[in-house]
Amino acid sequence: MPNDSHPSKYLVCVAWPYASGDRHLGHVAGAYLPPDIYARYQRLCGNEVRMVSGSDTHGTPVTVAAAAEGISNAEMVAHYHARFVQAFKDLGLSFDLFTHTDTENHWNVTHELFLNHLKNGYLYRDSQSQPYCLVDQRFLADRYIEGTCPICGYADARGDQCDNCGNIFDAVELISPRCKICGQSQIEVRETEHFFFDLGKASPDLAQWLNDGNKSHWRHAVYNYAKQQAESGELRGRAITRDIDWGVSIPVEGFDDKVIYVWYDAVQGYLSATREVFALDGEADTWREWWFDPEVKSLYFIGKDNIPFHSMIWPAMLIADGRGLNLPYDVPANEYLNIEDKKISTSRRWTIGLPDFLSRYDPDPLRYALTINAPETRDVNFTWEEFLRRNNEELVATWGNLVNRVLGFAYKRFDGAVPEPGSFDEIDQALLAESEAAFERVGAELDAVRLKIALTRAMELAHSANRYLNEKAPWTQIKTEPAAAGTTIYVALQVIDRLKVLLNPFLPFTTQQLHGYLGYEGDIFGNLYIDEVSDARGTRPVLRYKGNDLQARWEPQTLAPGQALNKPKALYTKLDNSIIEEERERLVAHLAKAE
Ligand code: MF3
Ligand code: ZN
Repeated sequence: MPNDSHPSKYLVCVAWPYASGDRHLGHVAGAYLPPDIYARYQRLCGNEVRMVSGSDTHGTPVTVAAAAEGISNAEMVAHYHARFVQAFKDLGLSFDLFTHTDTENHWNVTHELFLNHLKNGYLYRDSQSQPYCLVDQRFLADRYIEGTCPICGYADARGDQCDNCGNIFDAVELISPRCKICGQSQIEVRETEHFFFDLGKASPDLAQWLNDGNKSHWRHAVYNYAKQQAESGELRGRAITRDIDWGVSIPVEGFDDKVIYVWYDAVQGYLSATREVFALDGEADTWREWWFDPEVKSLYFIGKDNIPFHSMIWPAMLIADGRGLNLPYDVPANEYLNIEDKKISTSRRWTIGLPDFLSRYDPDPLRYALTINAPETRDVNFTWEEFLRRNNEELVATWGNLVNRVLGFAYKRFDGAVPEPGSFDEIDQALLAESEAAFERVGAELDAVRLKIALTRAMELAHSANRYLNEKAPWTQIKTEPAAAGTTIYVALQVIDRLKVLLNPFLPFTTQQLHGYLGYEGDIFGNLYIDEVSDARGTRPVLRYKGNDLQARWEPQTLAPGQALNKPKALYTKLDNSIIEEERERLVAHLAKAE
């Protein structure tokens, strides 16, 4: 809700994608689009937002993928990082900063937390049993080993996590393990020394935080998981270093041939990126206000496979740091998106990549389709048929057509300007009142991160406006009582102008276009741009956003009579039925190539 006198601060944290493959529509629906909608909404309310993330550059996801492609780890990272930056810009994701984890700043932050954890007694050294491949003569960390999940029995679980049930465990717990490098099972368990993070020590504080009575806005799946874990009495130390050579170094002597486990450094990205975004803006110390003031709300947007790390391990790491860093305000994790009734699988190539999608379709229809059927409480299904229907019937016919009819009519029949209204009858008043109330109605859902219902509510207003127009029929009114037609068009334009704001977080590109047709000059999209940043570890492209000068507010405003309109063009394009078959064939062709 609008908050100009007392702006609140929202730190919008977005899961860090491994720089080892393009994001697909499931990632977009689950973790990348929701935070942007939320952040855009909060900015419209006059609140201060920093939305941060970056590429997760370390660990076996990157090394395994680079080896498979026959390129270096650094090449792999540079390639996919650049693709994330471009695709996220093309989708309009308003990252104040999208950076990556192989930066000097991120290494420093990771070392600092590590040493704080060590000093506070949350880290200890121990020898660990690790699978060792006798063929390749090396330890098999994380993704170098696969086998049957010890918890759900899924046959292709990885060494650190099961993709089927989402549980995390130690590699030696896998049943019938096999080596990813040689494909064989000549594996024995050997001892190796590692650092462990003592989750058990943090569990009483975790439980207390989860029981503070301030979590009623959490999604049940996330809350129940975290609470059950924290109170289970079974949390043990987890190894946070690995026997591989790609990762953040360990700031303790004698560990030169090991690195920090990718997850332990990646979650710290939220903190390091907050430091980086303010440093880039010349306010190196301001991050403290964002991490130590308990009034600041931090929200972590993730897919459900990331729940353990964000609802339990990262909070435990923040507690163990001992400086009083803010704990998550909310962890709105999403369920999965299936494609054409099948679970997405990158290895089997049953997937639709974001860059691929955006090479053929506009960003707003995708944003619409993935939000109106968002996987907030259950898995959902993406089909091309449904995408086409949503685009053609909802964006084109309901919303786009409303805009076209009214603006086109005003442009032609009222000299291209907002007409002067006469007096309002009950029907006019009812629609104007509904459009005013919509800010509260839609805003309450957005505040609660219920984006699907928020968008549904906004679209209801578009439906009401269409019904209003059909009832008033200004194209008939203009012949018999032109002044009444002027009032109708005036009312409809007000509602369209308000819908422009209500829909802006969801549809930032086309509402910006509409803003121009309505005769405004300013910017309601914001300045989203790619920059280049260098430090001692190298140079990288980053995505940046400046949305401080937005010419819109989350409140009903009134378009002035006489304001000159600009000649409107269609906001959305009707898609031809033939794309359904074409796209299905494309999917199946991918699948065939993979097999
Ligand atoms: N790279 C992880 C993944 O793609 C997510 C990390 S989110 C983090 O699943 F920020 F916590 F690192
Ligand atoms: Zn499992």
